[in-house]
Amino acid sequence: MEAILDAENQIETWQEVTLVYNAALKQMNTRLEILNDEFQHVHQYNPIEHIKSRIKTPESIVKKLKRHGYESTIENMVNYVNDIAGVRIICSFSSDIYRIAEMIRLQNDIRVVAVKDYIRQPKPSGYKSYHMLVTVPVFLSDKTVDVKVEIQIRTVAMDFWASLEHKINYKFEGKAPEYVKTELVECAQMVSALDSRMQGLNEEIKKIEESAQNWPQT
Ligand code: GTP
Ligand code: MG
Repeated sequence: MEAILDAENQIETWQEVTLVYNAALKQMNTRLEILNDEFQHVHQYNPIEHIKSRIKTPESIVKKLKRHGYESTIENMVNYVNDIAGVRIICSFSSDIYRIAEMIRLQNDIRVVAVKDYIRQPKPSGYKSYHMLVTVPVFLSDKTVDVKVEIQIRTVAMDFWASLEHKINYKFEGKAPEYVKTELVECAQMVSALDSRMQGLNEEIKKIEESAQNWPQT
């Protein structure tokens, strides 16, 4: 995280933080749109269903810093809160997730700081998603700042599960009854089964389309 640590004297005010992180989100959104358009051009389909992005509220930033025992300073925010800028990429099929992650990784000026693969290793809650912490350069008038962005990539079905689970945990303040947690884990297994059947179906359709293209014209 040297680039960010080196930048500790560069981002000085809350206004500057908002400006720089918003710029990083704009950068990421544009790059993802371009990758999606190019993918459509080459493969005739869009791997990305939709993209959501958000800047963490000052209240949540302060809460997170407190939780980790840090004082609420701009320097601590920039150094220790990795999800000030967050992008969620929702795609149709599990296979799209790794394809998108690879396309992001291949961008020359994007640096992958950390990866958490909760698809290969789901959380005990049942949560599945592919997380990447990256830095993207933001070019200002007199300096370039490498800004951290947390990217979450998941399928529509995983997103459906995650939003309900989040709502339930919020309601119960993280202490949901055991039977609710068990039900959620079972639903997560159903999500995985659904995702793999849908992907199988999609591959079947592709095969049929390919063989139809090879039929002789009459
Ligand atoms: P945070 O302190 O929550 O940011 O966790 P972390 O720094 O250990 O990172 P992690 O990769 O575990 O989680 C980051 C984000 O992933 C969270 O802010 C959520 O958006 C999402 N997430 C992680 N675990 C769960 C989960 O069990 N359920 C849901 N719904 N979302 C989750
Ligand atoms: Mg978070």
